[in-house]
Amino acid sequence: MDKLIIRGQKRLKGEVTISGAKNAALGVLPAALLLSDVCTIENVPDILDISILRGIMESLGAQFENIDRNTIRIDTRKVNSYMATTPDMHKLRGSYYLMGALLGRFKRAVVTFPGGCNLGVRPIDQHIKGFEALGAKVEIEHGHIKLSANKLTGASIYLDVVSVGATINIMLAAVKAEGLTTIENAAKEPHIVDIANFLNAMGADIKGAGTDIIRIRGVKSLKGNIVHNIIPDQIEAGTFMIAAAATRGDVLVKNVIPKHMESLTAKLIEMNVRVEEFDDSIRIYVKERLSKVNIKTLPYPGFPTDLQPPAAILLLQAEGISTITEGIFENRFQYIEELKRMGANIRVEGRMAVIEGRCKLSGAPIKALDLRAGAACVIAALVADGETELTNVHYLDRGYENFVEKLGKLGADIKRVENNKC
Ligand code: EPZ
Repeated sequence: MDKLIIRGQKRLKGEVTISGAKNAALGVLPAALLLSDVCTIENVPDILDISILRGIMESLGAQFENIDRNTIRIDTRKVNSYMATTPDMHKLRGSYYLMGALLGRFKRAVVTFPGGCNLGVRPIDQHIKGFEALGAKVEIEHGHIKLSANKLTGASIYLDVVSVGATINIMLAAVKAEGLTTIENAAKEPHIVDIANFLNAMGADIKGAGTDIIRIRGVKSLKGNIVHNIIPDQIEAGTFMIAAAATRGDVLVKNVIPKHMESLTAKLIEMNVRVEEFDDSIRIYVKERLSKVNIKTLPYPGFPTDLQPPAAILLLQAEGISTITEGIFENRFQYIEELKRMGANIRVEGRMAVIEGRCKLSGAPIKALDLRAGAACVIAALVADGETELTNVHYLDRGYENFVEKLGKLGADIKRVENNKC
């Protein structure tokens, strides 16, 4: 197991280029299974979650060819299995999209329960409700979800909670169903639009992605030989924007869609961070003292839960007492115990974290408890006085491409070492 050694108190300066969106790619790759042809996907992030998903799809018969590091060609003509039951299924959350994709392709699927970050109970009842509404029989046996249907028929589905995963999964299953499917109270995240655009390019008929009503008119077949470019990763961009502000640096974050960043940029401006927006980049720098703010995480276009842990580090640098209310996941404050080892003064009251600002963090041995908690720990270490050793680095590998290299180029004193070489 590797660890990161970070010496803090260096201002981040320079330019960083954001990779393709993890959570879009995790939907686009399974979506290719609806096709029996080839397609090319560009701007695929080179991260652990994607390589695990590729391995699972290869076990189903899909063939991958790397055109370059971030461009892959997927051939799904030889896909001959609807059983996604390898042990790797537990390693990521995004494996749940194989349910919708395999059900859509074969009218049946046997899929192991997904894993992913431990953010509290993460039910999939809304996914199942959607599949059942389309006519699938759903059975849960020995840790597998078994889906089967004689035919899939369009239906009207109202989601009881706004769920990114359920919205995408139902969309995947409905693309080739007979008739019209309507998803109401759908999630509106940018990557839902990206996946819908990919499906539409293959000949699907999806309207309204990005709004809370998505209409999918089933089509009989899809066509291949298309090229799709994955959108930039909104959460990676936000992580670097926050890191730039927290270290009082000056960073141009390139390859972003500024519109996707609005909930964060609004908060940064409220805190006195200087934000300059360009067509596809955002410059972040700090001149004044940072003001306290209150943040509540919400489904898009609200403040993303995935940026909540990194944002906490910025609030530790502000004047006065700020709060963060976690509106999506019940258990996303575990990282705070790690920050306390560095001297953070944060109190958790139910779903709210009360954060005392002007905090002097000091380097300490800490561990990443999940992907975004890990990113928060790295930013805390960049701000802190002295040296931090961060273990459980594999969590960062799941979702950030070249994280250490990108931070190093911005002037961070960060290195990755094998644990037994320290
Ligand atoms: C996706 O998770 C992302 N994962 C998460 O990214 C992200 O935090 C989350 O959306 C919210 O934006 C992937 O895209 C692979 P949800 P997902 O279904 O789909 C409840 C990261 O760090 N719910 O939108 O699992 C659920 O418990 C990760 O990149 C139900 O009750 O999130 C939660 O409270 C972590 N029943 C809320 O809805 C269901 O059937 C939103 O969850 C489904 C969800």
